Amino acid sequence: MKMFSSLRFIMAILSIVVLHSNLSVAKGLRNVHPKRASFPSDFLFGAGSSAMQIEGAAHEGGKGLGLWDDIVERHKATFVDGDKFSTLIEHYKRYKEDVQHLKHLGVNSYRMTISWSRVMPDGTLKGGINKEGINFYNNLINDLLENDIEPFVTIMHFDYPLALHQKLRGFLNRTIVNHYKDYCNLLFKTYGDRVKHWTTFNEPQVTAIHNYMHGYDNDDREPCQDTGMCSEAYTVLHNFLICHATAAKLYRKKFQATQRGEIGIVLQAPNYVPYSSKSEDVDAANRLMDFSFGWVLDPIYYGDYPQIMRKLVGNRLPKFTKKEENMIKGSLDFVGVNYYYSVFARHESNRSNMFPLDNFDALAATNEFNAEGNTTGPKDQYSGMSVYPKGLYDLLIYMKEKYQNPNIYITENGISSPNMTNQLKDENRIAYIATHINTTKAAIDNDVNVRGYFVWAAFDTFEFHAGYSGHMGLYHVDFNDNLKRVPKASAKWYRNFMTSNYRK
Ligand SMILES: *[C@@H]1O[C@H](CO)[C@@H](O)[C@H](O)[C@H]1NC(C)=O
Ligand SMILES: *[C@@H]1O[C@H](CO)[C@@H](O)[C@H](O)[C@H]1NC(C)=O
Ligand SMILES: *[C@@H]1O[C@H](CO)[C@@H](O)[C@H](O)[C@H]1NC(C)=O
Ligand SMILES: *[C@@H]1O[C@H](CO)[C@@H](O)[C@H](O)[C@H]1NC(C)=O
Ligand SMILES: *[C@@H]1O[C@H](CO)[C@@H](O)[C@H](O)[C@H]1NC(C)=O
Repeated sequence: MKMFSSLRFIMAILSIVVLHSNLSVAKGLRNVHPKRASFPSDFLFGAGSSAMQIEGAAHEGGKGLGLWDDIVERHKATFVDGDKFSTLIEHYKRYKEDVQHLKHLGVNSYRMTISWSRVMPDGTLKGGINKEGINFYNNLINDLLENDIEPFVTIMHFDYPLALHQKLRGFLNRTIVNHYKDYCNLLFKTYGDRVKHWTTFNEPQVTAIHNYMHGYDNDDREPCQDTGMCSEAYTVLHNFLICHATAAKLYRKKFQATQRGEIGIVLQAPNYVPYSSKSEDVDAANRLMDFSFGWVLDPIYYGDYPQIMRKLVGNRLPKFTKKEENMIKGSLDFVGVNYYYSVFARHESNRSNMFPLDNFDALAATNEFNAEGNTTGPKDQYSGMSVYPKGLYDLLIYMKEKYQNPNIYITENGISSPNMTNQLKDENRIAYIATHINTTKAAIDNDVNVRGYFVWAAFDTFEFHAGYSGHMGLYHVDFNDNLKRVPKASAKWYRNFMTSNYRK
């Protein structure tokens, strides 16, 4: 899950939502029987996590502080469950138990992050390598493999060493590329004999928009919210891209031939649907696809940012040198897609009518409702989120057509259930997962190269400002009983699906 939608989610739970939906999603499930056997045998089915959302032990095992340790620590009161942040679900201590839970789920893969500040406490080689941190991930990776679970590793999932943020201003500073490269080199060298799936960044667009355009969770914000003439978001994303391409180049040159793994990047991936059939709204939806996917993928596939971004952002959008362009082009083996929902896109030139997380420069506003007052799909009764599996299908087809039929992993897909009375009976989550797997299958049947699917999340996970209120895990974590992990109905469903060609 990403901060972006967590914020929407917080807004949803803070407002009094009139729930006019019923069990339409769960009813729809009757017609859906996705079968494991209809996917290739080497298709990855997994569940996901990120280091800073489950490990805890921020001050233990020689770890340096991460950016998010600092943000949450200093603004604890604004975070739901801020008091639980220092321990989280103690994954750092209980990883062996957690691997057994994953094994019980029947998954063949697990999406996890290596915490940069746990292996390189101040983010630099000069600052030293933390043996205990290195060993922790060695043990975790070995344990996963011994249980036939392939690690699918995120190199950076929002969090990075606080020292780099304080000394360099983080990804605003181009020199971070050297440190990121050293960090990646260490990971490939240390774990690459066993890790075959790497992703450089999780949702770089979210960090850029959320922290640097809107200034959330950023004490050093660029004062561009009023004028809308923001530049930092574009600088940060540009540096993410240079880091990504540098890592991919390093991997390919030094490691890929012997280690035979693959490297990609993970994108926040809502699908944008026109608010009305008016051409200006159709254009707005297309524009948001460019401002969201094109921002990252156009440089990788076509060597530059989308034309429409050049036009609307002007000289605030950095330029690539010829050398950078050549390095970035083709710098991935697959695209990771984090899909949760679709939203409507409407032409909007007045910034005060945009959603607080829209890109000011896109001349488009996102909307929960379309011109007729409908949502994209039925609203889930517990989260208020519009459930629209077709949006995932449409997005996958879009990726295939626009980006040369890339290999794709659905790296996140899931739903929160904040107001469910019995969190163990999460039928809505089963319906959500089943319909999205069903639609993934339809995309594969239409020649989209989807290689894997990961539920977010394996365990109830600290979702930034929303804390644990979203209960997004397949495993419930009982904070009143020593953080006991308890499989929800969805965990049992997923296991059945994985192991016995589920039929109702
Ligand atoms: C970028 O980092 C370098 C150190 O590597 C530092 O000297 C410089 O001041 C930083 N630039 C900014 C804009 O913070
Ligand atoms: C923009 O929208 C705000 C709020 O709806 C309104 O007060 C303002 O007059 C609008 N500005 C323009 C130029 O239309
Ligand atoms: C919008 O909702 C109305 C009433 O529920 C329904 O009749 C109509 O078909 C919907 N329109 C679309 C485009 O889904
Ligand atoms: C959901 O729960 C929150 C508190 O946990 C409450 O404030 C809110 O009103 C509830 N919403 C609904 C629709 O029940
Ligand atoms: C399952 O996928 C098929 C396309 O293969 C689609 O026609 C059907 O509506 C989907 N069912 C649900 C409930 O999502």
